[in-house]
Amino acid sequence: MANDQEKEAAARASLRFVKDGQIVGLGTGSTAAYFIQLLGDAVKNGLHVRGIPTSVRSRQQAASLGIPLTTLDECQQIDVTVDGADEVDPELRLIKGGGGALLREKIVASATKQLVIVVDASKRVPVLGRFPLPVEVIKFAQAVVVKKIEALGAKVSLRQEADGNPYLTDEGNHLLDCRFEQIPDADSLARQLSDMPGIVEHGLFIGMANVVLVADGSELVELRREH
Ligand code: 5RP
Repeated sequence: MANDQEKEAAARASLRFVKDGQIVGLGTGSTAAYFIQLLGDAVKNGLHVRGIPTSVRSRQQAASLGIPLTTLDECQQIDVTVDGADEVDPELRLIKGGGGALLREKIVASATKQLVIVVDASKRVPVLGRFPLPVEVIKFAQAVVVKKIEALGAKVSLRQEADGNPYLTDEGNHLLDCRFEQIPDADSLARQLSDMPGIVEHGLFIGMANVVLVADGSELVELRREH
């Protein structure tokens, strides 16, 4: 089965976690976009929810589908969030941010009772790190942060647009893509990055995902975090 079909299948399976009347976090990326599309269909068929998007892109998509929206200013507890990921390890630790929205995604996830991650089978890895870890950084601190992350063993590149300009996140920051190849101790790396002045947020999501739905061919695997 092609990746896109797996993405849609995982997104479809996540719909049963959404109940009438709930506040729903709307992830970002191609898999989350399938979820938003399907949620829009459900809303047209009478489901009542209010969505909190994790990016300008997802907000535009949800609004165009007629999904009622709210904000964290109005509502600080989200019942369920459905989002994608770039990598998932056996402990349900994630790398996120390939789509550039990790900061708002992590804030929304942190305010969510149940974080449901939807992925195709290619995202499952034994050890995180093959996918370059996105790190959102304040421009003023960029050169200092690059040096420090390189000293931790990564090859670091500034994310750029097709025209060569730096990619800007929805919050106006730069993104560093940090190629570690392997992150044997993700918990420790997450702490080190969180302690570095100038890093706004990093793409390691640890202890956040409650459920990961993996579409693998025609099979749907549901993984749950035990602790
Ligand atoms: C965006 C993300 C995405 O969820 C992640 O990049 C996965 O994207 P896709 O579903 O397109 O493979 O973290 O910041």
